[in-house]
Amino acid sequence: MRVFVTGASGWIGSALVPELLAAGHQVLGLARSPESARALEKAGAEPVHGSLADLGLLAETARASDAVAHLAFRHDIAFTGDFPGAARSDRQAVDAFGEALAGSGKPFAIASGLLGITPGEVATETSWPGGGDEGLCSGRAVTARATVALADQGVRSSVVRLAPTVHGEGDNGFVTALVGVAREKGVAAYIGDGDQRWPAVHRLDAARLFRLALEQAPAGAVLHAAAE
Ligand SMILES: NC(=O)c1ccc[n+]([C@@H]2O[C@H](COP(=O)([O-])OP(=O)(O)OC[C@H]3O[C@@H](n4cnc5c(N)ncnc54)[C@H](OP(=O)(O)O)[C@@H]3O)[C@@H](O)[C@H]2O)c1
Repeated sequence: MRVFVTGASGWIGSALVPELLAAGHQVLGLARSPESARALEKAGAEPVHGSLADLGLLAETARASDAVAHLAFRHDIAFTGDFPGAARSDRQAVDAFGEALAGSGKPFAIASGLLGITPGEVATETSWPGGGDEGLCSGRAVTARATVALADQGVRSSVVRLAPTVHGEGDNGFVTALVGVAREKGVAAYIGDGDQRWPAVHRLDAARLFRLALEQAPAGAVLHAAAE
């Protein structure tokens, strides 16, 4: 398949590109900077120059592709206080893809998260957060639900809900920060009675799940990328 990947230059997307290429697919990757475009070319993908704000470009490229994997997320604004703005931008992109792919039967997989789905109990693929549309994670959950609903519009949509820690070689994320603190302080801390469970997944396994979602997932599937 000719697969359009947003976020192809990111932590998980850069593992998805070789995963797709190794399986015989062609990859087009959204690149918002010359550096990202160069990285994609080096990885063997064809860069599509533009950003998440270029909704027409997203739609046009989706129509010209056999499948879409949407992993880009505006972490730059999300991590500096505007999570709702990042979630809005994500929703606009998903709506643009949904409209472009409606009636095509093409696969469309998006990245979402497991964090906060069912605090205090085990989250399964059929769990959804309660409450309204506000809050840290629920904006993304609403987008995930809209993606599932695209199954009724003739899109083979799926939602990959990633564990809050996607780790791997070169990891710059949460667990690495905790390990750094433990090394510095000489002790590893935990909150409360230590009874918390924090799921994780390796980025290569997450990438494999995205490939399998595009290749095989039934329309409207929710998949949990959680291992450890
Ligand atoms: N990593 C985790 O632990 C984790 C956990 C749960 C969910 N997720 C979700 O999984 C997805 C991928 O995460 P990740 O860790 O791979 O993220 P990442 O490393 O931060 O990569 C984000 C990707 O999005 C692109 N991007 C950001 N803003 C953009 C914009 N305005 N226009 C076009 N592209 C833009 C980036 O492009 P540049 O390379 O040009 O910056 C990059 O390719 C995200 O939806 C994320 O929220 C990740």
